[in-house]
Parts: sequence; structure tokens; C-alpha cells
Amino acid sequence: MSKSLIRPLVEGLKAYVPGEQIIVDGLVRLNTNENPYSPAPAVLEKIKECVDGRLRRYPNPGADGLREKLAAMHGCKKENILVGNGSDEVLEMAIRTFVDPLGHGNGASERSASTVQYFWPSYSLYPVLADSAGAVRNPVPLLADFGIPSVSELKSGKRWDFGAALSFVTTPNAPTGRGYKMAELEALCKAQTGVVLLDEAYVEFAEENAMELALRMPNVIVARTFSKAYSLCFQRVGYAVGSEELIGAMHKIRGSYNVNGLGQIAAEATLENLEYYQKNFERVKKTRAEMMRWFAQHGFQAYPSQTNFIFVKPSTLSAREWYLRLREKNILVRWWADEEVKDYLRISIGSEEEMKRFCEESEKILAGNKKTF
Ligand SMILES: Cc1ncc(COP(=O)(O)O)c(C=O)c1O
Repeated sequence: MSKSLIRPLVEGLKAYVPGEQIIVDGLVRLNTNENPYSPAPAVLEKIKECVDGRLRRYPNPGADGLREKLAAMHGCKKENILVGNGSDEVLEMAIRTFVDPLGHGNGASERSASTVQYFWPSYSLYPVLADSAGAVRNPVPLLADFGIPSVSELKSGKRWDFGAALSFVTTPNAPTGRGYKMAELEALCKAQTGVVLLDEAYVEFAEENAMELALRMPNVIVARTFSKAYSLCFQRVGYAVGSEELIGAMHKIRGSYNVNGLGQIAAEATLENLEYYQKNFERVKKTRAEMMRWFAQHGFQAYPSQTNFIFVKPSTLSAREWYLRLREKNILVRWWADEEVKDYLRISIGSEEEMKRFCEESEKILAGNKKTF
């Protein structure tokens, strides 16, 4: 019998499944929470301008220019900031920095020192990252309305580990779209002895953000991304903000040139054109409000959203059937087979035209399924 060359941990690993990335004419992609609007014209110009002989050079290793600009925006120092190849890389670096799979910790129990903890349902990458690091995973259910249990509820529930090396909190949450108050996040962060990473990938579409906590509390990191609100998925730029101590430690394990040069340039140019994006946030929020009304009128249970997507429980057909029927019409939405979320669809907010197409096709599906007696 031949011996496998692959680590048993990796052999047993289930890879992350991204939303389908099919490219065909006329396809409406409402499955990956991309922004329907293009980056600002000035950002596109800047990228084009930089596509020349300098591509032979390495980019700035620490994305220093971008960190300076982000520091100015958030009122902190560049030492409080780390840039990643998308915020996915920031999440992965946080695990490598704070979680010890062998359970070595400063005073925490072995189990806590090796634990990656998160509420569920939330971002489906967290368990994959935890597994690939050989960490202990601790998913703890959200309340029935997708709220975060209070500290006392978590204490009496006994499943939440207040000493966990790293806890991810998606805020506002994905895939449910629910927003959380800074006060409740602060209470949770205060009760935790390990690091809490507040994943604010969608925060520009929300009512509140918790950046202040990362700048004030020694165990809190906020992760953000240029992908969603700033229409830059293609360029892969995300970042973390936190104390110099935590961010400095993350820098130690960062790949030397982890953020590509054009990504750095695009993100810097984005920060010089914020007004353009603020208008887009308002457009997305307006379409979101219109879609909430449409869902209510057409028998879908839609959860209030503070993101650029809506989590809905459809009627008439199962969520899976809806996903397949829409797919036949070249409309992609996100559906997961997992028990906790199998009855729901996550539908990204597209452009006004895309949502019109979604509504028209959905109305045809509904009309074809009217029960006749
Ligand atoms: C909650 C959450 N966090 C982080 C990310 C990662 O975004 P990116 O790696 O594009 O910055 C996503 C992407 O879908 C997400 O939904």
C-alpha cells in the first residue's frame, strides 16, 4: 500500500466553495455580493496609467502608501494597519497569529488556546480556515432572529468560550444581513480574554460600525475590504485595524509582498474618490428597500438587511427549487445545502435593471406555480 504524501489534516479537509463564477451573456450574478457599479472612472484611469514597464518590479512590501491613507481616514497610525490580499487573507493571518493548534497559550487552557470561535450561521470560510490551521472550531448558534446572544445568555448557554484564542464576529452578519449595535459588540469584546476580530466586510451598507472598538480595546481587530462597497473584488485588497501590538504580530507572519501592486494603486485611488462611492452606497440601499417591499408583496420572508444582500425564506417552492429555477433563467443567487440555512436564499443587490429582471422572472415562476383547485 503506497503511503500518501499529503498531510492527513489536508487530506481530510473540505475546501471552501465560492459562489459560482460562470460567465455567459445575459447572466445576472446575484450570488457573490459584488457591487453592481463600476469602480470610479478616476480609479480605472489610475490603474491603466500604471500598467507599464514598472510591472517588472516588486510592489511596496508593506503597502505603506495605502496604510498611510487608511490611517489618515481612521484617525490612527499606519502601525495600526495591516493590508491583506483581500480580507480573506487577513482572517487567515489572524488565525496563524493568535491560535496555536498545539494549545500553547499564555494562561488560557489548551483547548481555548487552539480555538477559533464564531457564531453560526455566518461566513462559511471560518470553519475552513480553522480546519486548515488544525484549530478547534467552536460554532455557536445565533438566536432564532439571527441576533447575537447577550453575554449572560452566552454564559448560561455554556457553549461560548470566553477564553477562545480568536473569535470571529461578522458584523453586519453574512449571510443573514442582520446588523449589530456597537454597544452589544463592546459588551462581548469586554467579556472575552482572547482576540475578537469584527469582520466588517459589509459595514458601509450598515447603520453602525465598530471601528472605534479596534482603536480603543487591546483585544479587538476590525477587518474591512475594498471588494464589496468599493467595487474592487478583482483586485483583492482588504485590511485589519487594531492595536500596534496585535497588528505588529500579524505583520511578522505576513508574506513579503502579499498585496499586488495594482491592487495597492487601485485602493489608494479609491480613497481619493470616496464621494463617488458614497453615492453608490445610497443607490444600493435604495434598491434594497425596494426589494424588501417586493419580497413582502410576493410572499417571501425577508430579513431586514444592513448589507448589500437580502436573506429570504421563499414560499411556494423550496429554496433549492427557487435557486434551480432562477438558474435556468440565467439568474444566480446563493443557496447552501447546510441544515441551518437550507430553507433560505441569499440574494445580492444588483443594479436596478438586474433586480427588475429578477422580479420579472420570479413573478413568472410564481404565476406558473399558482395552485389551481
Ligand atoms: C463576511 C465576509 N468577510 C470577508 C469576506 C472576504 O472578502 P474579500 O476577501 O474579498 O476581502 C467576505 C466575502 O464574501 C465575506 O462575506
